[in-house]
Amino acid sequence: MGKNIASRAIEILKEEGMKEFLRKTLAYMVRRAEFLILPYALLKIKHLDRDCSLNELLDFVFNDLASLIKPSQIRSEISELLNIVGEIKPRVILEIGTAKGGTMFLFSRTASKDATIISADLPRGMFGGGYSNWRKSLYKSFALSSQKIYLFRMDSHKKESLEQVRAILGEERLDFLFVDGDHSYEGVKKDFEMYSPLVRQGGIVAFHDIVPGPTENVGEVPQFWREIKEFYGGKEVVEDWEQGGYGIGIIISKVKKQ
Ligand SMILES: C[S@@+](CC[C@H](N)C(=O)[O-])C[C@H]1O[C@@H](n2cnc3c(N)ncnc32)[C@H](O)[C@@H]1O
Repeated sequence: MGKNIASRAIEILKEEGMKEFLRKTLAYMVRRAEFLILPYALLKIKHLDRDCSLNELLDFVFNDLASLIKPSQIRSEISELLNIVGEIKPRVILEIGTAKGGTMFLFSRTASKDATIISADLPRGMFGGGYSNWRKSLYKSFALSSQKIYLFRMDSHKKESLEQVRAILGEERLDFLFVDGDHSYEGVKKDFEMYSPLVRQGGIVAFHDIVPGPTENVGEVPQFWREIKEFYGGKEVVEDWEQGGYGIGIIISKVKKQ
């Protein structure tokens, strides 16, 4: 245990009591030991039926693998988004906010069999804190044999990040952009302004956490969503407006008039 961790542990013990100390210590140990199930996870992913149903796919990410790749989503909401995205069988996807890889995994199985999937996350971030390096091999294993997965460990707001995405796209356009990274008002706005021009006409842009809730979970995404939905006429996929967070806002990139 490093010095910082030890002093933090003493702090929790003093301020929050034994029960909370034990709970947090256990959660910490589970997080540190997660990588132990990596070989098992790789095997399960490899043998998961390529053509399994959406329900089986959702069961897999939500209930299997001890939450290793559990998405930060409400099942019914992500299920509806996948149905919508599945209709266009995207060939090029950009996700901002990889975290545990849950949504990336689901998108990879909903995309076309030769899709290019780019997923970006910070090495450390406010909303989930990025991911450990050992997860890279896990995330790479999501790709079907003709798919390509690019993992960017970068701040999506940096000019170089946009350039890297552009370099991968070449002449192509994004079919689907999923914005689930920086949840501050300026952060989500910047992601939208930087990357939505790369989405083809008729492509899909979706935002997570449009339902008002605790700031530490949703940031200011609900406010941003309220503003742009007026303008773009978005669709809202929300299980319950009282659930305090979550919810997905979807807009279809404008189709040029003939
Ligand atoms: C809520 S999590 C994403 C959850 C994931 N989409 C899922 O449901 O499986 C948000 C992630 O965005 C990342 N993030 C925050 N700001 C970012 C930025 N500026 N650029 C890239 N990633 C960022 C965080 O590190 C965090 O891992």
